[in-house]
Amino acid sequence: LNIELNHEETGIEATQRLKIGLYFATWWALNVVFNIYNKKVLNAFPYPWLVSTLSLAAGSLLMLISWATRVAEVPNVDLEFWKALFPVAVAHTIGHVAATVSMSKVAVSFTHIIKSGEPAFSVLVSRFLLGEAFPVQVYLSLLPIIGGCALAAVTELNFNMIGFLGAMISNLAFVFRNIFSKKGMKGMRVSGMNYYACLSMLSLFILTPLAIAVEGPELWAAGWQKALSQIGPNFVWWVAAQSVFYHLYNQVSYMSLDQISPLTFSIGNTMKRISVIVSSILIFHTPIHPVNALGAAIAILGTFLYSQVHFRFSYSLISVSLHFETNQ
Ligand code: 3PG
Repeated sequence: LNIELNHEETGIEATQRLKIGLYFATWWALNVVFNIYNKKVLNAFPYPWLVSTLSLAAGSLLMLISWATRVAEVPNVDLEFWKALFPVAVAHTIGHVAATVSMSKVAVSFTHIIKSGEPAFSVLVSRFLLGEAFPVQVYLSLLPIIGGCALAAVTELNFNMIGFLGAMISNLAFVFRNIFSKKGMKGMRVSGMNYYACLSMLSLFILTPLAIAVEGPELWAAGWQKALSQIGPNFVWWVAAQSVFYHLYNQVSYMSLDQISPLTFSIGNTMKRISVIVSSILIFHTPIHPVNALGAAIAILGTFLYSQVHFRFSYSLISVSLHFETNQ
């Protein structure tokens, strides 16, 4: 009986591993396609506020159609849900626009090298704003991340301050997005797919008036005509591709969050950045200095190291508190 059970367990584990592998492969592939088309669009049409609004609009439309046709289950959410989601959506909107502004000014690879520093922001915000303490190993694991990002930034051949600050603001905003979603959403049962759909809709609602105020229809109309005359009708397909792929990669990443631990997710996200950095350098022939590549490699290795140290610490705390509770 034992042998049969073991066989069954191994079978379940293998299926689960295959499922996670498929999620990851899909997530990275969709993300690479998004980043390539996003940059192609921004090169021809440098209006990141409209480009980021269109990504959210495409996702919202896709999900409304999926709900109307019952392809996806309509979520059962109330006013409390939307209230808890509001700060998450504000942070998501800021992080998304800031990353898009960054990519409109610098190479995709540079934005993602800086974005690989997100764990450092997470620890610093938790330490200085929330008063959370970490063991010294966690702080030490931040050194290669910060050092690697700094080395990559000072040796970046096409450095641009707005591009750099956009990626930094995006890191900070996404740390707050994670904090708010952990705090406000406890106990609310919505699938990863529907959670992301609602987040897109609320972010679209927040972003649309801001995009009109910052850029506005006049600039958009002139820019659109110019891009169409330079690129031809393919430009419309590029815009559609960047918008739809933005939604799809985020949807898959939120769906995978239902299946995997935060540690696996964090490692998966870092590996996603490696695929984007390498493929965008190859596709856009981005000039890159060897010291710059070294900085990127150190930052990314640091992120792996951080994931291991940070989550080992979190899990040991969880097991200590479980042990304590069961012994009460
Ligand atoms: C965006 O436009 O929202 C960013 O490119 C997202 O970046 P990330 O999902 O890779 O953190």
